[in-house]
Amino acid sequence: MKLRQWTTVGVVAVATIAALNTVPATASRPYDPTAQSLATLGLRHGLHVGTAVSIDALNDASDPQYRTLASSEFSSVTAENAMKWESLEPTRGTYNWAPADQLVDFAKRNRQSVRGHVLVWHNQLPGWLTSGVADGSISKQELRELLRKHITTVVKRYQGKIWQWDVVNEAVSDPWDTPSTLHYKGFWAQNLGPGYIADAFRWARAADPKALLFYNDYNIEAFGSGNPADDKTQFVYDMTKGLRAQGVPIDGVGSQGHLGTQYGNFDTLQVTAALKKFSGLGVATAFTEVDVRSQMTAGVQAGNSEEINPRLQASAANFSVLMKACLAVRSCLSYTVWGFSDRHSWVPGWFDDPPEGLATIYDENYQPKRAYQELKSDLIFAGPPYVLPRLAPKPRR
Ligand code: G3I
Repeated sequence: MKLRQWTTVGVVAVATIAALNTVPATASRPYDPTAQSLATLGLRHGLHVGTAVSIDALNDASDPQYRTLASSEFSSVTAENAMKWESLEPTRGTYNWAPADQLVDFAKRNRQSVRGHVLVWHNQLPGWLTSGVADGSISKQELRELLRKHITTVVKRYQGKIWQWDVVNEAVSDPWDTPSTLHYKGFWAQNLGPGYIADAFRWARAADPKALLFYNDYNIEAFGSGNPADDKTQFVYDMTKGLRAQGVPIDGVGSQGHLGTQYGNFDTLQVTAALKKFSGLGVATAFTEVDVRSQMTAGVQAGNSEEINPRLQASAANFSVLMKACLAVRSCLSYTVWGFSDRHSWVPGWFDDPPEGLATIYDENYQPKRAYQELKSDLIFAGPPYVLPRLAPKPRR
């Protein structure tokens, strides 16, 4: 690693430690790390602990705890939906900036960093765009120009206010797709070919020279067979390596971290190894959308603790695996949860057969769950020599 290409986020950590030490612990008033927020404990390591934010929940006057926790527990925020293309430009040429602006203002008021999500994705595109392409009224050439304009407009509007942009999201297929051999999937690859990925990073860089530009995807927590035909992590690794070799300004790879307790998950060292391998390419890493869902059996729904407890424990263990791996690798700049309370989680609305839920770190009444406590203890018990301040790459030109 060439050190001059990286900057230490540890300055933040040192400042935070200094701040924590301004009031010395005494026998009568010992310093109690368990009383600190995830944000404060993370910043000891230069690590941002973030959350996705729902603007509807933020604006719900009857739900003040949402706003309180979103502002106090986290040092980074991501718009769960407000920066997606369908939200920003529901009608062609008419932008609805208000919700995204609100999130950026909220972050500024609370001294939080912002992860911009998302510039190029095949989901949540405006109807006028997808139907225009389907009926042939938008040509391929015009589509490419619309994408360039979209990226340029959005990135310029928030220039200097976004720490990390998810430039391209979920471009790679899964083994259960057809064909099962991994490939570039979805609307953009089908209409523009995979070259749109390099274009998108170049357009984003031209619009903001300083934001860290990320590729973001799920099911890339650990390497599998090593064969890019069926190992999605390997496919994304090879893609990143290829983009870097071409001089494309990709600064980071975000691993979403949507896990489920019903699946065989990874151990901390497998995840650590994957983060290390990506950072060997010179890119930053981050967990960007962590949640760990469980099947809501009849017993769980009836409140049967014998069914609920193992799920809460498995969920906590999985949140913790990703956090420990992130702490162990200095390129891992942030750990973002995809919503922090079961009151506002995308999971129950998405997975209904069988129903799934219990995916976040606070329950529906904002009581911290075991997962929250485990994340906290991971942050408290980490430190040198194995856990060192973060190292961020300089944005690539
Ligand atoms: O805004 C409409 C509302 O007007 C309408 O009444 C309601 C009825 O269904 O739908 C609302 O839109 C919903 C939107 O979230 C805002 O709440 C959509 O139906 C719903 O599909 C959409 O789901 C979002 C999902 O992305 C869509 O793909 C989730 O909230 C959001 O958490 C989820 O986030 C994605 C990341 O962006 C990328 N990675 C995966 C992650 C989870 O799917």
